[in-house]
Amino acid sequence: MLAGKHILLGVTGGIAAIKIPLLIREFKKQKADVRVVMSRAAKEFVTPLSLSTLSGHTVITEMFPEQTAPSVASSTWHIELGMWADVTLIAPATANFLAKLSHGIADDALSTLMVALRCPVILSPAMDDEMWRNPITQRNISSLKEVGYCVLPPEEGELASGLIGMGRLPEIPSLVQFTNKILEKSNRDFHKKKILITAGPTYEPIDAVRFISNRSSGRMGFALANASALRGADVTLISGPSNLQTPRNVKRVDVETSEEMFNAVTQYFSKSDVIIMSAAVSDFTPVKSFPRKLKKENISSDTFSLELKKNKDILTHLGQKKRKGQFLVGFALETDNELANAKRKLQEKNLDLIVCNNPLEEGAGFTVETNKVTLIDKNGKIEKFPVLQKFDVANEILDSVLHRTKKYG
Ligand code: CTP
Repeated sequence: MLAGKHILLGVTGGIAAIKIPLLIREFKKQKADVRVVMSRAAKEFVTPLSLSTLSGHTVITEMFPEQTAPSVASSTWHIELGMWADVTLIAPATANFLAKLSHGIADDALSTLMVALRCPVILSPAMDDEMWRNPITQRNISSLKEVGYCVLPPEEGELASGLIGMGRLPEIPSLVQFTNKILEKSNRDFHKKKILITAGPTYEPIDAVRFISNRSSGRMGFALANASALRGADVTLISGPSNLQTPRNVKRVDVETSEEMFNAVTQYFSKSDVIIMSAAVSDFTPVKSFPRKLKKENISSDTFSLELKKNKDILTHLGQKKRKGQFLVGFALETDNELANAKRKLQEKNLDLIVCNNPLEEGAGFTVETNKVTLIDKNGKIEKFPVLQKFDVANEILDSVLHRTKKYG
């Protein structure tokens, strides 16, 4: 997998930088082409000379070429390297680097390059245990994951301080294996495919401040958008209200109500090759929505009834309009008789594939980072998966879509 690949290696200033010469040697052994950009602090731990000797290329350490090396002639090197790279690995990634990256700060060579990258980026944090557990570091890691950075968590063990804890840079084989996995998952097999994904809940207004909704966080749909973009697709994500950040290279359309979602989906539907409805669309909406806040003193009895009407089922509508060559994926959120209900939805809504999940199962549900799903296709073929990260579930769904579009045309 690594042979002929362009690996951009970013090195920041932590003691684990002393392992990087061995990592470059391993990448080279597997016939990858490696280019290195270092932060100034990294030079305190490993010299640019050793890394350029091993990689066979000038190592960039400064933003402006005259400060680096004569062979870095252009002041747009960060754009050129950004286009050259198939994958970028930052190892070790320090707490300071993660903080800068999560805020888009571009004040030196490596941090500027990060903003210009187009390829998948792997972050391999390594630091002291307390620094890793620090809530600010964890917050930065979460928001970097949300926007699509792939994080290889540090390992537990003896740290440079002599203390035992989380924070060690994984060993060279783990770094190489993870880089391989991300390259495999970003092999552009969805290049030129237009994918429409819905995510999150909808809000159905009762009055000016209240609404009916559900517990969906949007995580599964956002993971699908991220994975599709990494695989080269042209992704439109139609999202109900969600606090999640938009993954890199994804076009996001925000909606609130199921009616707005219907309008947005039908606008993009005809141009889409693959449509994945992972949104938890409200099935009902209040018949009347009050423009001002309802006051309880105006309600004389102890009970108050809200009249609801059924919403249009977006997926059923798409199933009726689907043209040859379009691939339609639905979700079935079930707490009982999962498979039977999912199969019924698959048929009734004229789907090609349905993803069945049960929020009551361990490792599944709205707010967690994992999910446990079963895929059923229109020929009745069933594939069950164990609990996986939502990003990995997303890739399983995409693999399944690709396999079936190739097989059935
Ligand atoms: N869906 C939709 N429009 C709706 C309701 C649901 O497009 N108004 C889609 C969802 O995005 C999902 C699929 O239909 O892909 C199944 O949703 P789910 O909530 O599991 O089932 P429902 O069809 O709404 O039926 P029920 O709530 O009775 O299980």
